[in-house]
Amino acid sequence: MTSVSISSLRAYAFAATAVRQYRSAMLNGNYVAVGSSLEVIGGMDSWFFNKIAGAVLSALLVAFGAGTLSQIISGGGHGDADHKPKPGYVLPVTAGEAATTAAALVAFKFSDVAPMLKTASADNGRAAFAPCRACHTVDKDGKALVGPNLYGIMGREVASNAGFPRYSTALKGAKGTWSFEKMAAYLNDPREAIPGNQMAFAGVKNNADLADLLVYLRTLSDAPVALPN
Ligand code: HEC
Repeated sequence: MTSVSISSLRAYAFAATAVRQYRSAMLNGNYVAVGSSLEVIGGMDSWFFNKIAGAVLSALLVAFGAGTLSQIISGGGHGDADHKPKPGYVLPVTAGEAATTAAALVAFKFSDVAPMLKTASADNGRAAFAPCRACHTVDKDGKALVGPNLYGIMGREVASNAGFPRYSTALKGAKGTWSFEKMAAYLNDPREAIPGNQMAFAGVKNNADLADLLVYLRTLSDAPVALPN
């Protein structure tokens, strides 16, 4: 605010100087006031008047500009608390959408998926695996893509595929083997389950799809691990 006040003062001083110059010009006899207008007498051309008018105008501009600037700096209001910034429009959120969002925020529970594994379909799981194929191969000794090959993944130690040299520190830090429970939590919400891991995948939110995926992953093996009881 201090700097704004100073610039207002400067603007005022500038305007005052311009007026003084104008008055001394009058006293020198170059100008005479006729009503409210000015007439040039003598040999003085109009550039001097223009110069003064320009100085007064720009002084006013600076003064108004400083006022506006001070409003911007002080938060854009007129000093009263009611002038809070308001959103230009409000996004309509229906009760249904709000409920879906709330449901997604309910913590994932493996106990909801576990009973589905007995009847889950590996064929459906193969179909549900479609988005994963962009980054993972599943054939034995398949090559690494953006992510590691997943043959034999169930029951194997986390982040242990020798053919994939780019595991994140986060995934390497997640010790243990890929149990159904660990895999379910990871595929449901990779970021939440292992914070900082590098799999750019939002997660499988549907429990039936997740169960199908888990039994499909289990088939990618010479000796599939047992389903959990
Ligand atoms: C955009 C690419 C991408 C997609 C899509 C993707 N993943 Fe991944 N996945 C990765 C990457 C990269 C890693 C390694 C992450 C790390 O090191 O942090 C990974 C790691 C994994 C791992 C751990 C591997 C190990 O050796 O421990 C599993 C299991 C996995 N993904 C399964 C899936 C499944 C199932 C899907 C589909 C539902 C999927 N991924 C979709 C990129 C992807």
